Amino acid sequence: MTKPITFYYKNALAEAVGPDHGLDPAELEKLQPRIAQITKLLADQRAGGTLPYRDLPYRTEMAQQVHDLTNRLKGKFENLIVLGIGGSALGNIALQTALNSPTYNLQSARTGPRLFVMDNVDPVQLGSLLDLLQGQLDRTLFNVISKSGQTAETASQFLIIQEMLKNKLPQANLADHIIATTDTQSGTLRKIADALQLTTLEVPAGVGGRFSVLSHVGLFSAAMCNIDIEKLLAGARDMDERVKPSELTHNPAALYAAIQFAFYQKGKNLSVMMPYAFQLKDLCDWYRQLWAESLGKAHDQNGNLVNVGPTPIKALGTTDQHSQVQLYREGPNDKIITFLETETFDRDLTIGPAEDIPELAYLSQQKMSKLINSEKLATEFALIQSQRPCLTVRFPEISPYTVGQFIYMFEVATSYMGELMGINTYDQPAVELGKIATFALMGHPDHQEMSKKIEPFRKIDEKHLA
Ligand code: PA5
Repeated sequence: MTKPITFYYKNALAEAVGPDHGLDPAELEKLQPRIAQITKLLADQRAGGTLPYRDLPYRTEMAQQVHDLTNRLKGKFENLIVLGIGGSALGNIALQTALNSPTYNLQSARTGPRLFVMDNVDPVQLGSLLDLLQGQLDRTLFNVISKSGQTAETASQFLIIQEMLKNKLPQANLADHIIATTDTQSGTLRKIADALQLTTLEVPAGVGGRFSVLSHVGLFSAAMCNIDIEKLLAGARDMDERVKPSELTHNPAALYAAIQFAFYQKGKNLSVMMPYAFQLKDLCDWYRQLWAESLGKAHDQNGNLVNVGPTPIKALGTTDQHSQVQLYREGPNDKIITFLETETFDRDLTIGPAEDIPELAYLSQQKMSKLINSEKLATEFALIQSQRPCLTVRFPEISPYTVGQFIYMFEVATSYMGELMGINTYDQPAVELGKIATFALMGHPDHQEMSKKIEPFRKIDEKHLA
């Protein structure tokens, strides 16, 4: 099935939520000339080789390398552990949640390895996984993903598992249990991989972590766990055709960005993504990073201090109806809500009979899919009554093809939004200071000056301690 995802925006317009909080179509029309310029700019950047993420779905050699490697490794491993953080982890998690069963790791009939993505350095969390792996290390494969190899979280995890493998499997070759996904030319992980003769996969040059899910970074774990990466890439390619027109209303990525930008200018700087499908929940984390790290910037493209950026927020339907919707309806009208919904679910359940419980008879024998989709519509209706603008991305089904479309649409929407905001979408300078401060606190010899600067912050001022 190759049906397209759709983007519905009527409920963000003044005709739905009123003129004070909805967009007048004229406001969108005003953005049309700028959107046309950006469309050309993005096409030129792509043609000039400075927007390589746009071409990832066409890199057939990359998909072939993944197939070759998975063919070699599949069946040999009970566990695949991804070590990475940020853009090196969130795409892996999102694909697995979207496209494999929620109980995939627990199923005995599963034909791929169990997948664990370790994107933190919490010793309890990692320690408990390592305990679980005792006795199964010979059937465990680690994929260390880091473009730089410098990231303290991933580097420390790597050092822990390297030591563990050496101690527990002294006869084994490390290269049989670790693969590295990293820069093709440079970086600490590249050096390590060369020294240990590890099999390597590529973080493509010029592609930031948050735009890398359709490269080896996201494709390998997906393919190992039997996700159809060809269909994922086909979905992305088909979306590529849909995000080429310069006409705003014919280009869902440009339209999404233009609407978000128009609301941002009107003071609605909180952007909630709320899926009504458990499978889509981690795509919201992926989107949260993409939107936040790309668009939250101190300076514009001319170097002026601007401190801009919408705040992406993740909520889950229906769970957060009972947690967040009170605020979304009656709190400050400073949000735009993007619902994700699916027309069909991979499976359905029928709610049990309730002949003897008149209060619950209305639910009796109905489909659970009808309930969750009704709750989405009910929540949207309730928000509209409170003049809260709503958007919907509708999936005909949740499949590799539709998820590929979604990923590509939101990547390109981020490029449009960055240009509308006049900032550099692809850097993340503000993340650096925290990374370097961590190096300093951990005793890195190159950062002793920094450690002196941090020292005063160690001291607790009792005057302000409650
Ligand atoms: O999107 C990004 O560029 C970041 O989130 C990185 O992916 C993250 O900081 C991890 O970096 P690295 O891959 O170098 O370990």
